[in-house]
Parts: sequence; structure tokens; C-alpha cells
Amino acid sequence: MSELDLHELDPAAFTAEVHSFEFWFHAVADDLQKRRYGTDPALPEEPLEAEDRERLITVLSNYCVGESIALLGASGLVALAPNHNAKIFLATQAVDEARHLEVFLHRLVQLGVEAPESTIEARASERLLAFKGKLMELIAAKDWHAAIFAQNVILEAMEFTTFRAHAERADVRTRDMLEGVIRDERRHMGFGENTLGSALHRTPELRGRLTALRRVLDSMVLATFEDSVSALGLPADERPQLGRDYLAVVERLGLT
Ligand SMILES: [Fe+2]
Ligand SMILES: [Fe+2]
Repeated sequence: MSELDLHELDPAAFTAEVHSFEFWFHAVADDLQKRRYGTDPALPEEPLEAEDRERLITVLSNYCVGESIALLGASGLVALAPNHNAKIFLATQAVDEARHLEVFLHRLVQLGVEAPESTIEARASERLLAFKGKLMELIAAKDWHAAIFAQNVILEAMEFTTFRAHAERADVRTRDMLEGVIRDERRHMGFGENTLGSALHRTPELRGRLTALRRVLDSMVLATFEDSVSALGLPADERPQLGRDYLAVVERLGLT
């Protein structure tokens, strides 16, 4: 179905169409067919200074931590989702997150990392691991709205914003890989905003609970940003912008 046909559907049919493997397959087919491990093989490997390579390895290690959290989160949310369309979408998301983890792991190997698993463990941000603990608690408590907020709004917004800022200054292969991942994260974030937007409309008392949760998670997320931007070597004057981009995404739901 073309994008134009999609927009002619009524809202329920649109949601069913977008939350399908049919839609997902067409969204990712080009990427999977034309790229190897998420990157156009024709792109050159730019030489990196030793210090820049080290920084990139630390950042990619934390992307692997984030994607692994997202994989566990999306898989766990399948069981909590209240209807079939949401379960199907989350299954496509789990596939996306596993693919992201795979391409970031592969990039570490391309950069000469011999033992990606132990490298990731050694460089993982404590704050990101704390966020993982919180998300897993929400899933274990079967708290659908809180868990979808933590996963598909907060975590996705953090990844989306960080990947975009990174892509602007990355070497060509890393940039190409990040741009593919960003396209998927945009879909995941859209699902989170859409699901919570209608839940908040139906159940206004949810707002207070999610706002309180946001306060707890914001500090973890913004601290994780700090870790990423310092590892990326972003100039100090660009750092507040990154935090603002993140806050704009979570504030669109009116959880202030
Ligand atoms: Fe992802
Ligand atoms: Fe995602």
C-alpha cells in the first residue's frame, strides 16, 4: 500500500495497517537488500585517530547496551499489549532492536574490537543500567502504560536524539548505519506517542502517574545523555540543545 493510500484509511484501519509486518517489511526491505550489517558496503572506511576510535568504541558499546535493553523491553511488552495490533507491532520492534544490536556489534568488530561482549560490559554506563533495572521492574509488574512510556517514549527519544546528533559528525560508515537505525526508532517512538496519546485521552488520571514516573526516569536519561555526549566529544555549547531535543519529545504528550 502506498503512503498516499495509507492516509486515505480511517484511523482504526490506518493503525491496523501501520502496526503490521506487511508495513514493516516494505519499510525495511530496501535497507536489508542494499546494505550489509546496516551499512552500504561501497562506503569507504575513513581512517580514525586512536583517540577518536576509542571514543567511538565507548559510544557504540553503550548503543549496544541501549539496543539490548530495547530488545528485552519490546519482547517483554508483547505479553502486556492489550490487543493483537499492538502485539504485532512490538514483534516487529523486537526484530528491529535485535537488528540494531547486530549492526552495532558488527561495527565494533569492524573497528578491530576482538571481544565485543567484554568490551561492552567494561564500558557500559551505570546510569543506563539503572534505567534498564527500572524498565524491567515495570514490565515485571505488568504495568503496560508505564512500561510503554519508559520504553517507547523515554528510551526511544533518548536514542533518537543521541543517534541524530552523532550522525551529524560521524565517519561515513557509522553515519550511514545510524541513519538506518534512526528511521526505525522514529517508527517506535510514533507507536509510543500514539498509544499513550489515546490512553491519556481515554484515562486522564493516567497523566499524574506518568508525570511522576517521568521525573524519576528523566534524571537517569539526562545523565545518560551526559555520558554519551562527553564520550562523543560534543562541544559544550551543543550539549544543552541535545537535552532540549529530548525534552521536546517527552513534552509533546503534555507530561509536564
Ligand atoms: Fe533500536
Ligand atoms: Fe527502538
